[in-house]
Amino acid sequence: MEKKSPEFAFLVHPRNLDDVYRRFPVLKFFPRIIVRYVLRHFRPIVLTKVTGLVSKKDGLRKDGLIITLTNIAEDMLADRKFASKKVVQAVKFAKKKGVKIVGLGALTSPVVGGGKDLIGKYGVAVTNGNALTAAMTMDGIKRSAQLKKILMNESTVAVVGATGSIGEAVSLFLAKEDMAKELIIIGRTPEHLDTLLLKLKKISNSNFRITISTDVSIIKKADVVIVATSSRDALIKEHDLKKNALIYDITQPQNVSISIKDKRKDILVVDGAIVQLPDNAGPRFNIGLPYGTTFACLAETMILAAEDPQNNFSIGKVKLEQITHIARLAETYDLKLAPLRSWGDIIPTSTT
Ligand SMILES: NC(=O)c1ccc[n+]([C@@H]2O[C@H](COP(=O)([O-])OP(=O)(O)OC[C@H]3O[C@@H](n4cnc5c(N)ncnc54)[C@H](OP(=O)(O)O)[C@@H]3O)[C@@H](O)[C@H]2O)c1
Repeated sequence: MEKKSPEFAFLVHPRNLDDVYRRFPVLKFFPRIIVRYVLRHFRPIVLTKVTGLVSKKDGLRKDGLIITLTNIAEDMLADRKFASKKVVQAVKFAKKKGVKIVGLGALTSPVVGGGKDLIGKYGVAVTNGNALTAAMTMDGIKRSAQLKKILMNESTVAVVGATGSIGEAVSLFLAKEDMAKELIIIGRTPEHLDTLLLKLKKISNSNFRITISTDVSIIKKADVVIVATSSRDALIKEHDLKKNALIYDITQPQNVSISIKDKRKDILVVDGAIVQLPDNAGPRFNIGLPYGTTFACLAETMILAAEDPQNNFSIGKVKLEQITHIARLAETYDLKLAPLRSWGDIIPTSTT
């Protein structure tokens, strides 16, 4: 019987050397510096197969692959040009495997302009998965705020990484739906913040308060902090947080300092944009999430593979119409926000 090609590939990379050791324990016996050097020059490999969704169009299951670059997050950001070459290498590898669409996970998206640098060049469609990530983030923030008994429209809400692909979409939603008393948008580049401010002013009420800042410590003022940067650093620190604040963190690698877990029991940190998949679908290797759940960006790639694998979807900044469209498709395919978790553990519904 002829072997069926995978329909999609999803690109990832290890966050750090511990991720590498979990997959290849033998490497622990070699000096870290050598392992890191060798990894930089390794070719992308298949990490696992993914059981896909059953297409509503032809009734067939659309399986895929997770392809991992071997560069850790620190190396991806230290040399973005080199990292983008690695992403191209992985896309070509995916094409050879016969896939039709490639999804960009974690930092594989920011290093190729959110997918812009790939489109029309390698014979595959591309998505950065950020439309469904933004949709699930909005859903997740509303649910987390309810759990923490926070009224969004009476709260100060900060978006860290607001000028990014996901951060911008989330900021626009918050402004459009009047979901804050004050919105603080935080980023690295002042010009990007100015551009976003203009966009936000166009779609919000005249009395909707917006503050811009390049200083992350301004989050001290916020009741709700949404974290969406492409940094690999723990930018969100325990001493920068308002009492009882809610943090909704979608970053990979995580930007929230682990010390908050023990030292700030008043703070609720929610693991953001995690999707519950329908029966049997998902990666066949544990990628660090509970069985039956996955990251929203992989879920978006799975939906597109089942529905429309020939066309690019989320590229660069996501548009609000794309978010509505993919959210509707997610519902059709029975994908929804997973039960809320904090540091990997289910959050009891009595959390206040
Ligand atoms: N949970 C999920 O399912 C999921 C899905 C997709 C992506 N993600 C994660 O979401 C995050 C954002 O992805 P993206 O594609 O939206 O990234 P992006 O478009 O590259 O945007 C990154 C944003 O972070 C800002 N930034 C970078 N370093 C910063 C720093 N040191 N301090 C303050 N701001 C900083 C950038 O500011 P500038 O304007 O100056 O560049 C920009 O606003 C990544 O961690 C990614 O792995 C998660």
